Amino acid sequence: MSSKHALVIGGTGMLADVSLWLVETGYQVSIIGRTMEKHRKLVDKASKPEFITSLAVDYSNYLLLEEQVRKTVEENGPISLVVSWSPIRTLEIINQVLSEQKDSWELYQIKGSRRFFDNEPPLSDSSCQQRSIYLGFTMEGNQSRWLTHNEISQGVITNIKEGNTESIIGILHPYDQRPS
Ligand SMILES: NC(=O)c1ccc[n+]([C@@H]2O[C@H](COP(=O)([O-])OP(=O)(O)OC[C@H]3O[C@@H](n4cnc5c(N)ncnc54)[C@H](OP(=O)(O)O)[C@@H]3O)[C@@H](O)[C@H]2O)c1
Repeated sequence: MSSKHALVIGGTGMLADVSLWLVETGYQVSIIGRTMEKHRKLVDKASKPEFITSLAVDYSNYLLLEEQVRKTVEENGPISLVVSWSPIRTLEIINQVLSEQKDSWELYQIKGSRRFFDNEPPLSDSSCQQRSIYLGFTMEGNQSRWLTHNEISQGVITNIKEGNTESIIGILHPYDQRPS
């Protein structure tokens, strides 16, 4: 077991390479996603598979989510880093559990482009340092396209390394040029 423990919510999809990078950098990584097959594929790719804990849970099942997160904290130690692609209600449950820990934790919240224009309040009563990463789009010549999973994961990794409070992967302006 590693002394550092991270949680990646939605870590079997577009954030899969973030999950694998965290394993590489020495984290014990707990990963939330519903599909066991996606968990298996990710574990197969990991350099140190024993550093992954697969939590095959629907994050909308709040009771089970809380139970699974408490269990992984008990077994793998306090969580110091959360990378999340999930709805806010899911994060509130995570926040409730992790704010019982002695030490503060970092949250990198991955958000869709529309949320950039919302004035979202931070998580209340939280001991976390909250950081936002917005997913934009990219231009190729005069054509726009959405980001690839690889671009998203690499962008998230860069922002975690730099500890940015707020960042955009790709671009958000001119917003009317985003792909349909
Ligand atoms: N701006 C851009 O360029 C860009 C590019 C790509 C995607 N996106 C946006 O990102 C979003 C996600 O795209 P995607 O579906 O392709 O991403 P994805 O990363 O393939 O899927 C989301 C991840 O969350 C997990 N997940 C989804 N629902 C869950 C639930 N209820 N409980 C637990 N885990 C859950 C998935 O695993 P399971 O399905 O196994 O649960 C998977 O690991 C979309 O809204 C899309 O618009 C934006």
